[in-house]
Amino acid sequence: HGTSKINAKAHLEIGGCDTVELKETYGTPLYIMDEALVRQRCREYMGAFRESGLTFQVAFASKAFCVMAMCRLVEEEGLSLDVVSEGELYTALQAGFPAKRIHFHGNNKTLAELEMALSAGIGCFVVDNFTELHMLQALAADKGMNVNVLLRVTPGVEAHTHEYISTGQTDSKFGFDIANGSAFEAVQLASECSNLNLLGLHSHIGSQIFEVEGFQLAIERVADFSREVKQKLDVIFKVVNLGGGFGIRYTAEDTPLKVSDYVKSITDAVKTYFADVYAQLPEIWVEPGRSIVGDAGTTLYTVGTMKDIPGVRKYVAVDGGMTDNPRPALYDSKYEATLANRANDPAEETVSIAGKCCESGDMLIWDLELPKANSGDLLAVACTGAYNYAMASNYNRIPRPAVVFVNEGTSDLVVKRESLQDIIAGDLIPERISKQPS
Ligand code: LLP
Repeated sequence: HGTSKINAKAHLEIGGCDTVELKETYGTPLYIMDEALVRQRCREYMGAFRESGLTFQVAFASKAFCVMAMCRLVEEEGLSLDVVSEGELYTALQAGFPAKRIHFHGNNKTLAELEMALSAGIGCFVVDNFTELHMLQALAADKGMNVNVLLRVTPGVEAHTHEYISTGQTDSKFGFDIANGSAFEAVQLASECSNLNLLGLHSHIGSQIFEVEGFQLAIERVADFSREVKQKLDVIFKVVNLGGGFGIRYTAEDTPLKVSDYVKSITDAVKTYFADVYAQLPEIWVEPGRSIVGDAGTTLYTVGTMKDIPGVRKYVAVDGGMTDNPRPALYDSKYEATLANRANDPAEETVSIAGKCCESGDMLIWDLELPKANSGDLLAVACTGAYNYAMASNYNRIPRPAVVFVNEGTSDLVVKRESLQDIIAGDLIPERISKQPS
């Protein structure tokens, strides 16, 4: 998919760059991002919304992959940006992302984060709970500012996805519940806060969702709630943010829709359910993360050791693992992979791909059909663009891999590989602990 293909040397090529050469230049493990595919996904979102005729914003959920080059690319493509921490906000601001197009999320924004975002002049706060509502009003009043807010509501939709990443249900740490009246109370309170400009509502029902029914149901509930609020409080929402969560294809078992079909089902539902709520349809915002960067990412590893347990299983170990891709260990996520340096070789055996961390749970793929792999072969794991670099750790003091953008035969480093010096950069040895070995 994307610009991936097998070249004349039978090597996997991405963005016109031979992965064997990428290994020589940058080493492994290496995150490779197909820049053209990321841009294509951005354009699919923007194009589909334009088609709908609605006023809209598409905000890239930076949590999926937040580095300065990505912020620049997203800005160039005309998208907005969703951030959830001072780290993501800082990255975006340092990359020159216009503050007005940044939306700030999170269920526990600290005072320091709210202040940083206020002084940067960000476009909108997505307020998650009553504590934050009071904090933000007090802070804005203190600074004599007026800030745009959306209220995050839980519409009571349980999206069919992994339990840890479905968030629209009542029992969630996120947002004001519509069903139990707390969302109504929040609207009342926010509209009385003189320094808050209540733009509208936000609803996010989960991630890696394939069925559109969950989104449609959420839109219906948000529309019903908007009607109630208009009648009882005379408050009108200008904006409805429907979050992210659009699924992608990791393996053949996954059955996502095309971006344009997700968008159409959402915009159609907005037109249907809001038709009799307002004279003018609200502005629709969305926050896709995974569906913009997920399938554009490939992780390149070098095969190291092998362990064959006759009649049981053959383990093939690579030079990364749960440190650069914790998703199989965390969510039991499935991936597909190929040998990048012998991309035309037929599959000969079933193996399981292990990482190099010191625990048995560090497995990337169980039961993968591969040609017979040797030490030094390159393994390319597909669809690792979202929540991989973003969730990477230094477990076992393994340095984080480099990230490169590839496009039309050019590769550019966008994140340097961590060095061993980086690993100890923050370490301090207290005076009272002897510095010399005794
Ligand atoms: N908006 C909000 C409020 C969110 O919480 C999220 C994701 C998104 C947008 C973007 O969702 P996406 O389009 O990427 O599905 N680490 C997990 C995914 C956690 C998603 C958290 N929130 C994973 O690796 O699957």
